[in-house]
Amino acid sequence: MFSNRITQLFNIDFPIIQAGMIWASGWKLASAVSNAGGLGIIGAGSMYPDTLREHLQKCKAATDRPFAVNVPLLYPDLDKHIQIIIEEGVKIVFTSAGNPKTWTGHLKQRGITVVHVVSSSKFALKAQDAGCDAVVAEGFEAGGHNGREETATFVLIPAVRKAVTIPVIAAGGIATGQQMLASMVLGAEGVQIGTRFVASEEASSHLSFKQAVVHAAEGDTQLMMKKLTPVRLLKNKFFQQVQEAEARGADEMELKRLLGRARAKAGMYEGNLEEGELEIGQVSALVNDILPAGQIVQDIWEEFLTALKNPLLHQG
Ligand SMILES: Cc1cc2nc3c(=O)[nH]c(=O)nc-3n(C[C@H](O)[C@H](O)[C@H](O)COP(=O)(O)O)c2cc1C
Repeated sequence: MFSNRITQLFNIDFPIIQAGMIWASGWKLASAVSNAGGLGIIGAGSMYPDTLREHLQKCKAATDRPFAVNVPLLYPDLDKHIQIIIEEGVKIVFTSAGNPKTWTGHLKQRGITVVHVVSSSKFALKAQDAGCDAVVAEGFEAGGHNGREETATFVLIPAVRKAVTIPVIAAGGIATGQQMLASMVLGAEGVQIGTRFVASEEASSHLSFKQAVVHAAEGDTQLMMKKLTPVRLLKNKFFQQVQEAEARGADEMELKRLLGRARAKAGMYEGNLEEGELEIGQVSALVNDILPAGQIVQDIWEEFLTALKNPLLHQG
């Protein structure tokens, strides 16, 4: 049995956390990962309050193991989400994209473990001061929304490790056991993995999007929309429109208009690979198959153990 501060904090077997992801991580994915001994996270960011409640109830029915909910703190229905999370007895919340001071105390008073996602050691310290139990240090390589500082995971982990005493979970560019071991050598005590789990059978993302992830090569993603909220996108027609607009100096308003309301849903959930917004990480270049989520957890853990035994033996 492996044990460290992260497995103890969440009461899980392996310090492998499946990231909360809009349009990808519903109850099916979260419960599959939790049943495999990792920590599954339901991504509330794309859910109406009633949808979130339904996912929480289905997840509780599908697993006895701990699972968490990711709540982006800029979400319009935030108050309702928090209320539902408390009512449904969720034990672990991962917050992101906002000030950790706003909700951490409220959640902690109700016995909920709180983890905040950060992109710099300055924000990690803020999260620790707000009372968070751990931080996710998410580097520039990551899929989804990203820090303005553009600090890459290999630099971010040791920097955050130095800045805080609470456990650090590494995220951004991790899809294999070797990458997991490297992150933990640098000071992380667990990993949060997004892109790899988009290409899983249980992810709610559209099959066409999963296939696009499997076919992505190095250089096929880029961080865009820095004037608005930086987001790493898979290159497609919509990406080209953003690139064009940014090249001629489009302002925030124009970018907002271009993004519109339902781009992310159209791309990732409905499979419109041309017009939709496709959020994915650099590590998609290393993802070559769509597998059951439980097998992904097992494979990563076995690779991690093999690499730990002989870290300099490079596996093919
Ligand atoms: C499709 C997709 C959607 C995401 N949605 C969210 C989200 O709703 N909230 C959040 O905090 N992070 C979100 N992220 C970021 C992930 O939680 C995670 O930190 C990131 O994917 C890790 O990097 P990786 O993709 O290289 O594994 C998303 C990532 C992806 C790929």
